[in-house]
Amino acid sequence: MSQPRTPVFAANWKMCHGPVETGAFVGRFAPRHVRRDDATVVVFPPAISLPAFAAAVSGRPDLEFGVQDVHTEVKGAHTSGIAAAMVPATGATWGLAGHSERRREFGDTDADVGRKLVRLLEAGLRPVLCVGETLEERESGRLETVLHTQIREALRPLDREDRSRLVYAYEPVWAIGTGRTASPDDAAEAHAIVRDRLAQADGCDAEGSVILYGGSVKPANIEALLAASGVDGVLVGGASLDPESWASICAAGG
Ligand code: 13P
Repeated sequence: MSQPRTPVFAANWKMCHGPVETGAFVGRFAPRHVRRDDATVVVFPPAISLPAFAAAVSGRPDLEFGVQDVHTEVKGAHTSGIAAAMVPATGATWGLAGHSERRREFGDTDADVGRKLVRLLEAGLRPVLCVGETLEERESGRLETVLHTQIREALRPLDREDRSRLVYAYEPVWAIGTGRTASPDDAAEAHAIVRDRLAQADGCDAEGSVILYGGSVKPANIEALLAASGVDGVLVGGASLDPESWASICAAGG
């Protein structure tokens, strides 16, 4: 029997909102957001803002948070690196791996992403594995191959039990920060590809896996995207930076 899929509303702030803005954001968002028992809300602030986020949401355990990236190594001489094992002390319980901006700007490979998943799981964090194709890959008919490869290689170092603990985010690179959103049909098609690939992977609960959509999600399109087949939530960049807009997204589908 598969687990029922609890929707997740996730905000990726990328390199926006330092500690001061983080406190101000939560001060405006928290009163506007009514706790939901039917969904999980999680914010990924910049690592330097995690303590400020934790302080601002104390008393609101329904507002979860996580780290945007961790190092592939456990510890050591890796200037600027953040070890996954350091993260839980901040109160964060989630971690992203494989975001396309990490792949593009920092050269994270699928093997790196796999190692990061291992580190996140060792630290007891809940990983979100991000996958997605570029426009060129989509237009040359390689959507399925790209998603399959990204998933297969990232899962490779994980044992069966760990694999069942992942959340997935499908984020087409051409829809990130461009204002160009995948249509609900595009999202449904890609989510079906991801779920099919999970069904082939040892240890994955394909039907029970939560798969988020990310790429220019906003209050105006959230309901249509959530209604798309196989879309279990969203990973939102730009529209999560404004407390009113994020509150409106987090109220969707209820
Ligand atoms: P936008 O919502 O700004 O397109 O960003 C999506 C994203 O990359 C979330 O991780």
